[in-house]
Amino acid sequence: MKFKLLKKHKKDSTKWLSRHINDEFVLKSKKEGFRSRSSYKLIQINQKFNFLNSSKNILDLGCAPGGWLQVSKKFTPINSKILGVDKLNIESIPGVNFYKGDIFEDEVINYIKSFFEKKIDLLISDMSPNSTGNKKVDHLRILSLVERVVDISNLFLKREGFIVIKIFQGGMYGDLMISLKESLKNIKNFKPKASRKESPEMYLIAQKK
Ligand SMILES: C[S@@+](CC[C@H](N)C(=O)[O-])C[C@H]1O[C@@H](n2cnc3c(N)ncnc32)[C@H](O)[C@@H]1O
Repeated sequence: MKFKLLKKHKKDSTKWLSRHINDEFVLKSKKEGFRSRSSYKLIQINQKFNFLNSSKNILDLGCAPGGWLQVSKKFTPINSKILGVDKLNIESIPGVNFYKGDIFEDEVINYIKSFFEKKIDLLISDMSPNSTGNKKVDHLRILSLVERVVDISNLFLKREGFIVIKIFQGGMYGDLMISLKESLKNIKNFKPKASRKESPEMYLIAQKK
């Protein structure tokens, strides 16, 4: 039985590896110097909603390894101020600032405040919690992550400023959506081509009221 399970695990990993190596966006990111295939998700979201070229103060929550930061640096004005936050360290990116911390910590909020000193134009978040294997627990964790990002947007995002948040299809966002609509407008859901079809992830794009 154990042997069978091990064999299945090996087969799944081999399948994953071969799909990853041949993935269009993995190949493209290697060629174009982006750190993650996720970079193309932000590029495609921006192609549709066009917010990067007018954003001068950008906050990226859950930024490691830094693909979205690279995209932000590339497509925002030359003197833009960009801050990435993550629990994990990243290799530095010229012209981009990084703070290591958990977005639920007060220190992170204080740092963001002192860094920008004024309201920001764009808040992006590609975060998802580590899976526990328990669907209910995972869902609650997703909700609290999205809720926290929206709370942070209420503190720092300027009127008309854009927000991009990773959410999950089929998630029960009921109450959260109600509070979200209080502070955000033009709320849209979008799944970029670079997001794998089999993944339930999608992105919520909106503007601050
Ligand atoms: C999918 S990755 C982001 C990839 C990134 N957009 C890119 O293109 O390189 C999600 C990140 O969110 C971070 N994360 C998840 N929960 C977090 C939290 N509570 N505070 C800070 N970072 C968090 C994880 O450490 C992980 O690095």
